Amino acid sequence: MYAVPNFTLNDGNTIPQLGFGVFQIGAEDTAQAVSQALEIGYRHIDTAEMYGNEKEVGEALRASGLDRGDVFVTSKLNNSFHEPRDAREAFGTTLSELGFDYVDLFLIHWPLPTLYDGDFVSTWKTLEEFHRDGRARSIGVSNFQVEHLERLAAETGTVPAVNRIEVHPYLTNDAVRGYGREHGIATEAWSPIAQGGVLEDPTIAEIAEKAGKTPAQVVLRWHIERGDIVFPKSVTPSRMKENFELFDFEFDSADMDAITALDQGEDGRTGPNPDTFAYVPG
Ligand SMILES: NC(=O)c1ccc[n+]([C@@H]2O[C@H](COP(=O)([O-])OP(=O)(O)OC[C@H]3O[C@@H](n4cnc5c(N)ncnc54)[C@H](OP(=O)(O)O)[C@@H]3O)[C@@H](O)[C@H]2O)c1
Repeated sequence: MYAVPNFTLNDGNTIPQLGFGVFQIGAEDTAQAVSQALEIGYRHIDTAEMYGNEKEVGEALRASGLDRGDVFVTSKLNNSFHEPRDAREAFGTTLSELGFDYVDLFLIHWPLPTLYDGDFVSTWKTLEEFHRDGRARSIGVSNFQVEHLERLAAETGTVPAVNRIEVHPYLTNDAVRGYGREHGIATEAWSPIAQGGVLEDPTIAEIAEKAGKTPAQVVLRWHIERGDIVFPKSVTPSRMKENFELFDFEFDSADMDAITALDQGEDGRTGPNPDTFAYVPG
């Protein structure tokens, strides 16, 4: 079994640095995928209300025979429910779908600065309620840019425990990561292998060959050494296993730098830009 490091968040809670993401896994396949991930040794599962598979994550955890306290589970607020009253109801639904009385981490999924009068501050204050009443052990944000984090710092009393952002070798997102580091906000990297888009890169292939590892392992190890939290998604058991085997090798700084130098800035983004993203499920 590979020992996954635990990070201590700014609220004192701990989070495993490596987890398993279930974005784009259909509800009908989620319980099986999560069961396989738990069997391999993953103890951190990342779901969201908008993924439509919270119920199956809870089912897999209960079927595993593990204690609830053995697995770190994150979920996120649906973009439709930023108004405080709606957020309270949606969070209750998340807990009942999961079948839990708490989540380890609850996030605002997107800041939606062009919607809700740009008022993600009220939404954040509502998450503070969930933290105070113990139903969200930790609270954080996702896809927040530096100006969004600065606004929370100016207008509220709690610093998010994490900021979940798109990060991979083609979008190193170092300005947002740097703000987090300076202010005690852990960075979680979503789409850590750019949904497969960085795996054909010749620089990554060359480092993989030298290390005797796969391109996915090289990229995930790069995240680990940068100190970010990752949760690659796969429905393929051999890949789930491969993605978990990151703790028996490391890079020299030249390899790290060569991967970081692949950054393409905004051109490397594979997902939406948080400044303009305004999707609300119908
Ligand atoms: N907060 C947010 O806004 C946000 C946004 C996006 C994602 N996320 C979270 O981040 C997690 C990961 O991101 P993601 O799902 O977008 O992308 P990802 O983990 O970067 O990539 C997943 C894709 O790569 C393939 N893959 C996985 N391991 C591989 C390997 N070892 N070799 C080759 N291909 C491999 C998977 O295929 P198969 O499944 O077919 O094996 C899948 O197509 C999500 O599941 C979700 O939990 C959060």
